[in-house]
Amino acid sequence: MDNLIGKRVLITAGPTHEYIDRVRYIGNCSSGKMGIELAKRAEALGAEVYLVIGPTHIEYHNEHITRIDVVSAEQMFEAVKLLYGRMDVVIASAAVADFKPKHRADQKIKKENGVGIKNIELTETQDILKWMGDNKKDQTLIGFALETENEIENAKGKLERKNLDGIVLNSLQDKGAGFAGDTNKITYITGDSLKEFNLKSKTEVAIDILNQIKWKTK
Ligand code: CTP
Repeated sequence: MDNLIGKRVLITAGPTHEYIDRVRYIGNCSSGKMGIELAKRAEALGAEVYLVIGPTHIEYHNEHITRIDVVSAEQMFEAVKLLYGRMDVVIASAAVADFKPKHRADQKIKKENGVGIKNIELTETQDILKWMGDNKKDQTLIGFALETENEIENAKGKLERKNLDGIVLNSLQDKGAGFAGDTNKITYITGDSLKEFNLKSKTEVAIDILNQIKWKTK
């Protein structure tokens, strides 16, 4: 790919935290690194980049990238909704929590009242990527799938269900793949193609992913 000058690229990254009370939350150990590497690479190719990122310790700031920090799936969804209509490409690398507590306690739940913690009622979060797929106009939409079994079949299911143009599959059966480390091993899948890559640094994986995306011309 030569350059992305004039393209607007939105990347979701990192985990989301769904608060149970003032101090506890449901989350996962996504670092946001894969999304940050994708943002860096897209920016280096000349794109106007928007990075909507959940809680992470990575202090990456680049004056050419608009970074929007969010905490919960709901906040990520609000940020995405504001941007989506203007985007050319969206890469959803965020590990969004699938469930959130139905009610958030205002204060820390004490042990003696522990019944509140033992019976947390959960409800599904908004599937942000599915919303983007359902509302797609001429955006190119790329998702991620983290699978532990029937990987290709499951990823293809998500590609179809969420109306995506491509999906990046990470298998937890592959050593060094996944969302916490510095490396990743991916398979890039579209409606009619499948390409497997070797274990690489996340910087190199970001280059591979951007090379795979078939950019729509408007
Ligand atoms: N995703 C999202 N919003 C959610 C959940 C997921 O935008 N609430 C996006 C992720 O960013 C990723 C893709 O959807 O790009 C895959 O998410 P995943 O949770 O693996 O897919 P699900 O359809 O929720 O399937 P399952 O959890 O059953 O594997």
